[in-house]
Amino acid sequence: MRLSVPSFAKITWMLEVLGPRPDGYHEIRAVLQTVDLADTLHFEPTEGRIEVSCSHPDVPEGEGNLVFRAAHVLQRARGIRAGVRVRIEKRIPVAAGLGGGSSNAAITLLALGRLWDVALEPDEVLQLGRTLGSDVPFFFFGGTALAVGRGDEVYPLPEVQAEYLLLAHPGFAVPTPWAYRQLTKRDMAGNISLCSRTFHRIVWKSEGGEKVPRPSEIAVGNDFEEIMRRQYPEWAEGLDLLRRQGAQAVGLSGSGPTLFAVFEGERELRRAEDVLASRRWWRARTRTLTRPQYWERLRAGGV
Ligand code: C5P
Repeated sequence: MRLSVPSFAKITWMLEVLGPRPDGYHEIRAVLQTVDLADTLHFEPTEGRIEVSCSHPDVPEGEGNLVFRAAHVLQRARGIRAGVRVRIEKRIPVAAGLGGGSSNAAITLLALGRLWDVALEPDEVLQLGRTLGSDVPFFFFGGTALAVGRGDEVYPLPEVQAEYLLLAHPGFAVPTPWAYRQLTKRDMAGNISLCSRTFHRIVWKSEGGEKVPRPSEIAVGNDFEEIMRRQYPEWAEGLDLLRRQGAQAVGLSGSGPTLFAVFEGERELRRAEDVLASRRWWRARTRTLTRPQYWERLRAGGV
């Protein structure tokens, strides 16, 4: 049996950091969203060895790879003798705030359930996933979701949808631990969380009518933006430029540096893309994936 499964990226419509936790992580509130940009993971069984390869130079191939660690924790948890060879076809930028590594780890657990023929319970897969990374559990849900705790507690939300979504990346990586270390008290939220206030506003205004939030209502900020601005002035110029292109919403994804922008139509999106092309930023046109769309694509890959 061989499997080729898509491993989708995510963006964060909003992200706030409330403060440090006793376990060394930070307490966050984030609205996450799967988007139609994916790596492909190719799986084939081996006698017992775990082998991971990737064409991208910045992705480690051995134990440093989250795919390797996902396979290893499942092998150990279930006492499995079989191994796996995984080839990662990378399309999601690395250390970009798009959750690529976490998505790869989540998909590996799901795919190995099939390949090794182990029935995985939902609780077990969540628990294994969160030991691999804070963003991993989200990829067992997909669509639009609220993530709290260290990001590993996930609650599905009504779907926010965007057809004309542009992702833009300046070409340098931002390691997540570094970004969290830069946070000062000033960058973190005070009083009632931004997330709570946003939902209150949306519910207050909806008055029983259309309850699904629009991107412009939910893309209300990211506590890492100020850090990025301070550290990378050229990135900040790119963000300001993007904000001047008439997007309905512009935001920073995760701890950066990828930006997303939602446009009304193809023409507006293309104009923004041209502006960023002149700065040699990486760009990808994409759209949101709802939970049903996300699962349909994973099922088509055999998980
Ligand atoms: O969970 P993950 O391995 O993705 O986290 C990477 C690093 O990012 C952690 O070791 C920690 O330094 C930081 N982090 C944090 N608070 C979170 C998530 C991540 O401080 N909620």
